[in-house]
Amino acid sequence: MSLLQRDRELITSNEFVKEFDFAEIEQFVKGASKNLFISHKFKTNPTKTLVQPRGGFPTYEKMFALYKEFKSVDVDILPMTIDSNTRLNDYSTAQKMLDLSIKEKQDLLNGYPLINHGYKKTRQMITHFDTPISLRHGTPDARLLVDMALASGAFEIEGGPITYILPYSKNFPQDKAFLYWKHVERLCAKYSEFNEPINRESFGPLTATLVPPVITIVIQICEMLLSLEEGVKSFSVSFAQTGSINQDLVMSNVIRKSARKYADLIGCKDATINLVYHQWMGAFPRDKNFSDALINSAAFIAKMVKANKIITKTRAEAFGIPTKEDNAKAVKDVKYTLNMLRGIPDFVDQEEEAHLEQCVDEIFDAIFNDKADTLWRKIFNSIKNGIIDVPFSPHIINNNELITVRDNKSNIRIYKKGKLPLSNKSIEYEKSKLNLDNSTTVVDQIIKDIGVML
Ligand code: 5AD
Repeated sequence: MSLLQRDRELITSNEFVKEFDFAEIEQFVKGASKNLFISHKFKTNPTKTLVQPRGGFPTYEKMFALYKEFKSVDVDILPMTIDSNTRLNDYSTAQKMLDLSIKEKQDLLNGYPLINHGYKKTRQMITHFDTPISLRHGTPDARLLVDMALASGAFEIEGGPITYILPYSKNFPQDKAFLYWKHVERLCAKYSEFNEPINRESFGPLTATLVPPVITIVIQICEMLLSLEEGVKSFSVSFAQTGSINQDLVMSNVIRKSARKYADLIGCKDATINLVYHQWMGAFPRDKNFSDALINSAAFIAKMVKANKIITKTRAEAFGIPTKEDNAKAVKDVKYTLNMLRGIPDFVDQEEEAHLEQCVDEIFDAIFNDKADTLWRKIFNSIKNGIIDVPFSPHIINNNELITVRDNKSNIRIYKKGKLPLSNKSIEYEKSKLNLDNSTTVVDQIIKDIGVML
């Protein structure tokens, strides 16, 4: 028996896992409809921006009703957002709150507790809608969750060992996360041989607060490489609306080019790389008309950057979890905007692109030059020593010396590089774009920026 299979048997022997029939699941995936695979949808719609919302409710019935609502507005990809107890592997609390949600007819979980519902029942729903499902979670140890998702027919898995730790966790051991996610990658690689490839997606928004493009791109590519080296064949890199249209455009071109370059460099020329654009991930206005405007402007940018997929927000973002109606409205509006926009010209800012690409290469040079023997250890060391530094990360391992501010064109610029291994030339370029307003301090500008879209 392979080590992977031995671990899976241990992990699925859990009091909250009612059944887990490996042979039956393998047969299901082998015969599963192509329509369930987002990798297949990307392949057959290479120039389309697919629309995917977020969403998860505790009960099966509410989840079913949510999917029905999304289908009524012609959604491209359905989400499965998992509740926070499950994310922290606390299936016991998830069960209690699920039972209470049914009894009290109230949503007492902020997502769908997949482990407690089990794969057989969930699979019924997924095969009924015959639409790709994207697993959205935030789980440091997602080994059981991902096995359960694949068994259910959810063939896109979001997350990764860096992007699901540094923005979300204070104490979860980063080295454990790398190893747990290695298991997830191997599982996805194994399943990719049964039918169409399983798509893995990294979470580009990170803390969604003044993260400079170079950090986003480096982390996206790190997670992509860790995934591809385990045999994954379809991967989506992503980033969130920065607040500067020019920076979004520059970033989209550089992330595509650099991701391809580094994937090829490690011998993964056969892997497909997709680009995902997140609508604004920072604080949302309370005025719902303003939210609609922000949502539609993000749709415009997604089209400009030729994203393969856009992930939508809703007009209820400032208030809590959206109703199925609010959520479907965003999908409908974004689809309208995307269809209406035709003949968008290509924009290229060669100077900015060359600069950003150079910064990405400078950081990768340092990561690859780390003395450790494996890629995950090189990346782990690079996080520890501040070569990778995520602004506003709550995690104890994060260096927190990198400081960024916006320039007068709204581009996020590096003000203090901390231990980022950027050359003097690169830092001089960033500095040359900064003309700080002397009437306020940098700290005040940063605090004000949290409300930049309000
Ligand atoms: N349903 C819908 N959207 C959700 N989000 C989180 N949980 C849910 C849910 N159960 C969205 C919110 C949040 C983002 C990360 O995901 O918009 O800001």
